[in-house]
Amino acid sequence: MNICIIGTGYVGLVSGACYSDIGHNVTCIDINKEKIESLNKGIVPIFEPGLEELIKKNVKADRLKFSIEFEQGIQGANIVYLIVGTDPLSNGETDLTYLKEAAKSVAKYLTDYKLIAIKSTVPVGTCRKIKKLITKEAGHSNFDIASNPEFLREGSAISDTFNMERAVFGVETDRAEKLLRKLHEKFKTKVVVTNLESSEMIKYAANAFLATKISFINEIANVCEKVGADVTKVSEGIGLDHRISPFFLNAGIGYGGSCFPKDTSSLVKIAEEVGYDFKIVKDVERVNYEQRFKVIEKLKEAIGGKLKGKRIAVLGLAFKPNTDDMRGAPSIDIIYKLQQCEANIIAYDPIASENAKKIIPNLKTTNSILEAANGAHALIILTEWPEFQDIDLEVLEKIMDNNVIIDGRNVFSISMMKSLDFYYASIGRETIYPKGKKSSQ
Ligand code: UDX
Repeated sequence: MNICIIGTGYVGLVSGACYSDIGHNVTCIDINKEKIESLNKGIVPIFEPGLEELIKKNVKADRLKFSIEFEQGIQGANIVYLIVGTDPLSNGETDLTYLKEAAKSVAKYLTDYKLIAIKSTVPVGTCRKIKKLITKEAGHSNFDIASNPEFLREGSAISDTFNMERAVFGVETDRAEKLLRKLHEKFKTKVVVTNLESSEMIKYAANAFLATKISFINEIANVCEKVGADVTKVSEGIGLDHRISPFFLNAGIGYGGSCFPKDTSSLVKIAEEVGYDFKIVKDVERVNYEQRFKVIEKLKEAIGGKLKGKRIAVLGLAFKPNTDDMRGAPSIDIIYKLQQCEANIIAYDPIASENAKKIIPNLKTTNSILEAANGAHALIILTEWPEFQDIDLEVLEKIMDNNVIIDGRNVFSISMMKSLDFYYASIGRETIYPKGKKSSQ
């Protein structure tokens, strides 16, 4: 099939690369000329494992093209995807400016029948609005509109696409459904076919539900600490029940990223607009916000209150491992708070430091874990990068000024930490004291 993708952001690029890899001819269009020029040279503007190779492979095979010419992409396409940014405005509403602009551009070149599919996350009712807009701009309705939301995760976006657990088609006609089925044939996935509104809602409900699981387990963790229970065992114990499932039950400093924070607040707003107070999701957001500061409380307790002038090593800045994305990262608020307390912060992240420095003024970073830990009064873990698990803790004991680790992601096992000589506080588990000491240092 011939596919045109409008928008070469994260989801647009990954979708374009994956659709071309299963044999479709894909043209990705963007209004950003520099970005298109870079992509044509094989430079990929985002970090996603495997994406650059996949793009290069399919460009070489002549199945994947990048262009700024809408006409070139749209003419001859069976499906035109709109995959542009829909960030929230300052009043919490979703900014549909880019989506509307993209829709108008498509309308301009809409000569023969096309399926226009929206993959951007949009408030319920948007597909129908875009349909009206395109009809008006094109002067005819020789097209179908569809909602086809995306569920991929950063860091595992390619395997999430190739092994998708389900595809959701919000459609109004059999023709639209058939086209989407044909496009997805090789993914061999389960398909949910529904109307436009339900499909739009599925995306919000999925993300809000996952966010709810995280806030729920974080609250369980907070209680575990007080009653002597271990949240990792509680997660294991409840997760084996297939009705609950073991995923998204890792307690920590809360969720971040470009989707959960945005989609939960959009869902609250969508409900508000129809006169419904979405209480659970509001609480999920509140719990998530408060959770990030637990590590500061634990740090203060560990080093006896005052953080002023204390050298604090921060390990991990990205909102999760395997990405350099800092959008919505809990580390931002945590570091602001540490800065307010006049702590002397030195941070390390394998790849997100440069992005972090653009957001957090005066952030000092280093290129190695040991450099960050050297002479530190305490070390805080904010992202569970796999390399942190391999840290030689005996070396750390020697180079730190004060052996305090506050682990916001439960990277180390309690049994291992008991064999060492650290003050070790994590989330929802017992605090380990240095040998011979039973109270705060
Ligand atoms: C999410 C959804 O998973 C994906 O389906 C949707 O398309 C986009 O939003 P993403 O933002 O890439 O994907 O990251 P995800 O892996 O879901 O993690 C989101 C946040 O939740 C991260 O900050 C992560 O650290 C946190 N998280 C996740 C937890 O705190 N505990 C968990 O058990 C799982």
